[in-house]
Amino acid sequence: MTLSVEINKVKFPHPVFNAAGPKDVTLDELMVIGRSQSSAILMKSCTLEPRDGNPEPRYYEDEFGSINSMGLPNKGYQEYGKYTPILKATFKKPVIASVSGMKIEDNVKIIKFFSTIQELDMIELNLSCPNLPGKPQIGYDADASDKLIRSVKDVCSKPLGLKLPPYFDFVHFEQMAKVINKHTPDFVTCINSLGNGLIIDAMKEETVIKPKGGFGGIGGDYCKPTALANVRKFYELLNKDIAIIGCGGIKSGIDVFEFILAGASAVQIGTHYLKEGPSVFERCVKELEHMMKKKKYSSLDEFRGTLKVIE
Ligand SMILES: Cc1cc2nc3c(=O)[nH]c(=O)nc-3n(C[C@H](O)[C@H](O)[C@H](O)COP(=O)(O)O)c2cc1C
Repeated sequence: MTLSVEINKVKFPHPVFNAAGPKDVTLDELMVIGRSQSSAILMKSCTLEPRDGNPEPRYYEDEFGSINSMGLPNKGYQEYGKYTPILKATFKKPVIASVSGMKIEDNVKIIKFFSTIQELDMIELNLSCPNLPGKPQIGYDADASDKLIRSVKDVCSKPLGLKLPPYFDFVHFEQMAKVINKHTPDFVTCINSLGNGLIIDAMKEETVIKPKGGFGGIGGDYCKPTALANVRKFYELLNKDIAIIGCGGIKSGIDVFEFILAGASAVQIGTHYLKEGPSVFERCVKELEHMMKKKKYSSLDEFRGTLKVIE
């Protein structure tokens, strides 16, 4: 049986790795991911300048998932440029930078810089980043996304992916798919957190996180059906040479199997990595293998995208 995956010549031994954000900010945290069975090391979304992020408490989890309003705490893009050769030499697996500049020019500058780092394998551009005041985040603005992707593609010499927010309306999927197909990135990652949810502590009659009046991005079980739907819809709408990476609520090998059935080439784990720690990657891979054996599949290609729809 082989679980290997290839996305624009970057080889992954199996399809399960960490999502951008959870515990991938410092070199120490990235070394933990390197030592785990995660098939790649995806670094924290970075900005031009280092950021401390929002005041705490800014992350909270319950039995169904998580809410966060971290405010992009990160070391600044140059630090991730320094970490990359160390991570690559030590662990010999794909190293991926996540870019989340505050404006187009920042993203262009950061991606230009990462293109010069020989040991870096891929770049994931986070489209869930702020746009102009009074405008939606870039991923919810097809024209702004078009402009941003065009600008960064011009300077990017690495395989490039787009981290997309969740979409809910078929017209929005079609508008975004049109933009993505025009620029043919190497992959898209579906989905970033469900935006601006609210979790309440009933006993305290209070929000569970401090920033933004308690509103925050939702991860974990809460978002799996939406993540599956986004993977499936983009699998139907995107050119077949654009790989889809699934993310949202993954915590078992059966979840991984479902995302691949829906059309994913690989998957990322965020909230459940925070809940369980680095053993989550190895466990999910073992459970996926078990499921494939049961189903008599010997590679991911045999069932990728083959989801049956009730007639
Ligand atoms: C604490 C935390 C920090 C996050 N930071 C980022 C980030 O910097 N960049 C990004 O693209 N997504 C970020 N995310 C979103 C995750 O990468 C992922 O898309 C989302 O949580 C859904 O996956 P999950 O259900 O496995 O958590 C963050 C999520 C969490 C929980």
